[in-house]
Amino acid sequence: MLQVVCKKDYEEASRAAADLIAAQILLKPDCKIGLATGSTPVGAYAELVRKYEAGELDFSKVTTANLDEYKGLPGTHDQSYRYFMDSNLFDHVNIDKSRTFVPNGVEEDAVKACKDYDELLDREIGAFDIQLLGIGGDGHIGFNEPADAFCVNTQCIKLEEQTIRDNARLFFNGNLDEVPKEAYTMGIGFIMRSRKILIMATGPKKRDIVEKAFCGPVTPWVPASILQLHPDVVLLGDEAAISEKVRALGK
Ligand code: PGA
Repeated sequence: MLQVVCKKDYEEASRAAADLIAAQILLKPDCKIGLATGSTPVGAYAELVRKYEAGELDFSKVTTANLDEYKGLPGTHDQSYRYFMDSNLFDHVNIDKSRTFVPNGVEEDAVKACKDYDELLDREIGAFDIQLLGIGGDGHIGFNEPADAFCVNTQCIKLEEQTIRDNARLFFNGNLDEVPKEAYTMGIGFIMRSRKILIMATGPKKRDIVEKAFCGPVTPWVPASILQLHPDVVLLGDEAAISEKVRALGK
C-alpha cells in the first residue's frame, strides 16, 4: 500500500520523516534502520539529533546499515558516505557505532566488497524495520541506476553522468573530476525486503521523476518504480515535488 504525505516545504517534510523514524525507535528500541545519504535526508537527521538532545530518543540499541558508498573513498574522506553519516547523525546521538554499517569503500576487489556487504546484511540485519530512501533525478534508489534489469544484490555500479553532475553540484566543490565514478550499492532485493519504506522527495527537480516512478510502469529504467510492488511505502515530500497526480494515488 502506498501512502502519500505532502507537506508544505522541506522543513515540514523533514520533521515528518524524523517523526516516523522516531516512532519506529520508540516502538522497537532495538530496531534495524536502513539509512540514506544525499541532500534530502539532512533535515530529517538534524531533527532526529534535536529529539535525542531533548531526551525524546534513545539510539543505544538501534542498528543501521547504509545504502551505498563511493568506491575508493575511505570513511575519513569528507565526501565519503561514512563521514556524512557520522557528521550528520552518528556523532551526535548515543548510537553504538559498531552497529552502524556502510559498504567498505576502500575494498578494491568489487566482487569481495559486494559479497561481504550482502553477508553482513543477512547476518546483522535480516530485514530492516524501516528503510529511508531518497530518489535520484534519474530514478535511482541507493545507487541502483537505470538498467535493463533490477539488480537484486549489492553491486559495484558505474555512476551515470547525471548522477556524477548532481553530486558535483552538491559536493566535491563542483569539481566533476573529483567525483568517484563508481560506487557500491545495496541491491534492490534487500531494499524491498524492508518491512516499511519511507521515500523522501523534495523540491521541483524531483517532481517529474516522482510522477514517473509512481504513476508510470514498473521498469528497471526507473528503478524507484519497483516500490509500486512493495506492501508498505510512505512517499513523503513537499508541494514542489509531489504533483496532484501523485497525491491522488495516496487518497
Ligand atoms: P539528493 O539525492 O537527496 O541529494 O537529491 C537523492 C539520491 O540521489 O538518492
